[in-house]
Amino acid sequence: MGKDKLRKFTEIGAFENVYQLEEGLANKGLWAKSHFKNDHPIVLELACGKGEYSVNMAKAFPDTNFIGIDYKGNRIWRGAKTALEEGVSNVAFLRIQIEDILSYFDLDEVSEIWITFPDPQPQVGREKKRLTSDRFLDIYRGLLKQDGFMHLKTDNDGLYQYTLEKVADRGDEILLSTQDLYNSEILNDTLSIKTYYEKKYLLVNKNINYLKWRFKKPIA
Ligand SMILES: C[S@@+](CC[C@H](N)C(=O)[O-])C[C@H]1O[C@@H](n2cnc3c(N)ncnc32)[C@H](O)[C@@H]1O
Repeated sequence: MGKDKLRKFTEIGAFENVYQLEEGLANKGLWAKSHFKNDHPIVLELACGKGEYSVNMAKAFPDTNFIGIDYKGNRIWRGAKTALEEGVSNVAFLRIQIEDILSYFDLDEVSEIWITFPDPQPQVGREKKRLTSDRFLDIYRGLLKQDGFMHLKTDNDGLYQYTLEKVADRGDEILLSTQDLYNSEILNDTLSIKTYYEKKYLLVNKNINYLKWRFKKPIA
């Protein structure tokens, strides 16, 4: 590990807004009460990297709690440090593998999930690792409140198509979809927040895909 990475890794250990691995387990079902000291809704950003969505949405929506999730500590460091420096207290970060997320949140604890520029994992043998494969969608279904929203933002056209088909095949409800967000009438202040990777793609004129959906209701 490089010196800078190691420094950031050590620093996040002392950040009050970062939970690493088992540190986060005690908050299961209690994130709002025990970390944020309120009863506001919880929104997750998965594959958050440097956490631009989490931090900027937290600033825009002070009555909502945001948690950015990624396994790379040196990336989480950026978002967590900004939040601490700017006094943004309604955002926290959790360094875990998303595969393990059900150990960290209770059924119905989460109101909304954003997946921002996940690795597309295009190889057939890597489908299980795709953050919108059936395995992951089943996991999200388990922690999202009924009528909670799912959002995917991606530069990868293949991942967008795959997710669109998957959502439709599962009988879930597609609410918004575009292959060219920045030339679309659905663009708004929240959707205009740009992540680190997104800025790089926009610089080379890559179209940005966006999908919003809701899981179907369970059979009564
Ligand atoms: C392409 S980066 C995007 C980061 C950020 N959302 C952005 O747009 O700048 C993908 C991120 O997903 C994280 N990631 C991929 N698979 C993961 C998993 N299974 N659990 C936790 N993090 C994961 C990586 O560590 C990486 O930071």
